Amino acid sequence: MNQWTREARYRPLSDLAPEVYQLMKEEVRTSPWRFSFHIQPPTGLLNDPNGFVYHNGTYHLFYQWFPLGPVHGLKYWYHMTSKDLVHWFDEGAALIPNDDPDSHGAYSGSGFIKNDQVHIMYTGNKRDAEWNRHTSQIVGHLRSDGRIEKHLPPAIPTVPDGYTEHFRDPKVFQHQDVWYCIIGAQRTDLTGCAVIYQSEDAEQWTLIGELQTDYPRFGYMWECPDYFELEGQGVLLFSPQGIEPKGDHFQNIFQSGYFIGKPLTLPDLTFQHEDFVELDFGFDFYAPQTTLAADGRRILVGWMGLPDITYPSDRYNWAHGLTLPRELTLENQHLRQRPVRELTALRKETLYADEFVLEHSFSPAHAETFELELSHLQLLSDTLTFKIRVSDQEETVLRYEAQTRRFTFDRTHSGAEIPATDYGTTRSVTLVEPLHALRLFVDRSSVEVFLNDGEAVASARIFPKSTSQDIILAGEATGHLAIYTL
Ligand code: FRU
Repeated sequence: MNQWTREARYRPLSDLAPEVYQLMKEEVRTSPWRFSFHIQPPTGLLNDPNGFVYHNGTYHLFYQWFPLGPVHGLKYWYHMTSKDLVHWFDEGAALIPNDDPDSHGAYSGSGFIKNDQVHIMYTGNKRDAEWNRHTSQIVGHLRSDGRIEKHLPPAIPTVPDGYTEHFRDPKVFQHQDVWYCIIGAQRTDLTGCAVIYQSEDAEQWTLIGELQTDYPRFGYMWECPDYFELEGQGVLLFSPQGIEPKGDHFQNIFQSGYFIGKPLTLPDLTFQHEDFVELDFGFDFYAPQTTLAADGRRILVGWMGLPDITYPSDRYNWAHGLTLPRELTLENQHLRQRPVRELTALRKETLYADEFVLEHSFSPAHAETFELELSHLQLLSDTLTFKIRVSDQEETVLRYEAQTRRFTFDRTHSGAEIPATDYGTTRSVTLVEPLHALRLFVDRSSVEVFLNDGEAVASARIFPKSTSQDIILAGEATGHLAIYTL
């Protein structure tokens, strides 16, 4: 990617003639592996979900966007809206990094509702002439013309003592009528943590301090923190960087996970919590963010990608997508993640729907983009194998071993090009419950698998040929199987 000089990465979209941008969009639109039902960038690179919020019948979801290519450069916020979390409307770029404090990127942040208006708080990223980073936190609101109006100067203009300029991704929440925001940070001793501010009006912010956890030395930076309460417990999500692999855990370049504990009693900053748990055991998941749905459900969306990894779609000038939205519940001190129930609206044709008795191996259908739902599963053999996106040369394999309750996602042969092979081509999880249910969402270049009604989830990008469409089940089992095209 030598053409991506510093200058090229920080070139604004407005430098491009509209017809040139149109041409780029057209090239991307017709390129291989474009998603059919996931949020993806019109051109260039998508990363973190941002500003996820529900207001007056509409969900607003923004994402980090570099328009000009599949690299991390000058970041904008791209805006999508939806009535149902399934069908998304393209609202275009909403936050433009064209002011001094965000001259090198409108970095991640969150949404909140104040005065009956969608507000956001995000990180302004600026580089000076020596290329030193200057970080600030900026509040803004969404105008009726679809653009974010920034409330400048920044609400939090500098980084407090004790932290480096890696200080970003404010997530705003309300607690007993007080506004708080939690920010991902790096201490000057290069360890990661989260810092909390409070405010009466969500415009003037006062530092209250660092969240006190039982993990004072856990990686070198915590990105994208999110705090919320669920069923009477406090949940802290964050994306720590610099965690070493351990058994089946922490296999990706960077991690995302959570602590569950006693609800915070802010402004007391002590958080009593259990161990860190990864949110997703797949290959491509990072920087998730949550919001509250109209009916009180806690909904999570993640970035189906990771920093510093090359993907085959890069050469077509686009990269990444967002995961499907998931509903979170808490059961036995463990977060369960289910695809939002609205997603059944995606189903088109039923390819298979029946009780089945699997005696050896069978191929219930062929499809490129589909949902597969297996329930009431009773295993009669030691292993059960699902192969999807199969052709002579390609297969994506999901394998369950009853004895160990280990479930493995294997993308070794998912296509001619496999991303991030340095980090291995299989991921595994050991389930608590024996496998009894499985739900798979397969798009042109992704797989999301939900096990045991939300006990474990894996997200993965795969880059098979569009003609690799066989679905094969192997083992001995009974259950109910349904397959729908999406
Ligand atoms: C996470 C992240 C955030 C930052 C943003 C920049 O992927 O590094 O910490 O705000 O991406 O695009």
